[in-house]
Amino acid sequence: MVFNSLGSNYNFATSTKMLFARGRKFDAVDLKKILEEKYQGQATLLYKGRQAITMALKFLNLPQGSIVAINGFTCYAVYQPIVEAGLKAEYLDVADGKLNFSADELKKKLDAGVNIKAVIIQNTLGYVCDIENIAAICRQNNIILIEDLAHSAGAMYLNGQEAGTVGDFVILSFSQDKIIDAVSGGALVVRNKKYQNLQLPKIAQPAKKQQVKDRFYPNFTFKIRMDYLIGLGKFTHKIYKKLGLLSKPMGELNKIVFLDLPGWYCRFANDGIKNLADNLNRRRKISTIYLQNLNPQILIGGINLQIQNSTNLRFPIVVNNRASLISYLKNHNIHVADIWYDAPVAPKNYLALTDYNHQCPKAEKLSEQILNLPTHINVSEKEANKISLAINAWLKLQ
Ligand SMILES: Cc1ncc(COP(=O)(O)O)c(C=O)c1O
Repeated sequence: MVFNSLGSNYNFATSTKMLFARGRKFDAVDLKKILEEKYQGQATLLYKGRQAITMALKFLNLPQGSIVAINGFTCYAVYQPIVEAGLKAEYLDVADGKLNFSADELKKKLDAGVNIKAVIIQNTLGYVCDIENIAAICRQNNIILIEDLAHSAGAMYLNGQEAGTVGDFVILSFSQDKIIDAVSGGALVVRNKKYQNLQLPKIAQPAKKQQVKDRFYPNFTFKIRMDYLIGLGKFTHKIYKKLGLLSKPMGELNKIVFLDLPGWYCRFANDGIKNLADNLNRRRKISTIYLQNLNPQILIGGINLQIQNSTNLRFPIVVNNRASLISYLKNHNIHVADIWYDAPVAPKNYLALTDYNHQCPKAEKLSEQILNLPTHINVSEKEANKISLAINAWLKLQ
């Protein structure tokens, strides 16, 4: 039984530890210090990564409606903070065979007169963007560069620099199913000295009820996965959902109130950073199995070959008739229905909340064809082989 998400990063040991562990004061102090050293800037810890984006944009103090360029293949959690900061998103379509926009796409917009004040790059699924050329364009045009590492903490750019060591600001997310998974959490690291020592108050702690939900999330999702083994998983999942017991990744939308990150979350974000190298090695191994075993016809040339540099948060493939493959895999006890991203600004049911208007045809096509294979600790090398064989068998039926 394999799942793409649903508490994918927890096993029995970690879910039990997370249920009973106490947050200690020094956990937050440690996390802040580690991030400040790693990313060479001033760190603020927040309850969500999306709040870190809003905070960075507010520090810029741009006139209302100023333009922030984002990847045209992204998450609502990147778009919404821009609106929250009173700014406007400009969507940059992905490059051919890539999950990120190219430097050329950014240049094209500038040449067309779009007055971009800040750029957010996001190294989608851990696959790195063309940072060198993007950063050069930003420098030449006085544009602020924000590196969003929600998917890519620990990734290496193709020029050998680590992700998070280039931009003016670094954003991190420690949300469920991310590389560093503390159920929730985020951080802003201000690298550009001009914007250091600015303060925006963290007005509140996350609600107690939400904190309790987050604490139980690893345990509940572990129980659901176990129940699937005895045929009860669907039922348990439905009940937990109905009772509102599971923390949702989209959660409460980022409102103007900045929330602090309590010690409990910091403790597990710290664990995630400590284990990062092992985590990434493992994901690389699993991705290599997919790469070597899957029919090359469904691989994404420019991406699947970059697994050495990527965090490999997921292993993306592209297929026609994705729904058929999802249902075929489900019959083989492989559950991969949650798709990052099923729309240019995902999830699809949030797209109508944005001002997206077909600016990114390549991302639209990609979002119809992409399917992500799991690389987390709960998928073994044997299972990755099995998944590859099942997909190849399905392809033969097409
Ligand atoms: C690329 C990217 N950036 C930022 C975020 C925001 O993270 P959080 O859920 O911690 O607000 C997400 C979350 O889904 C994301 O995918």
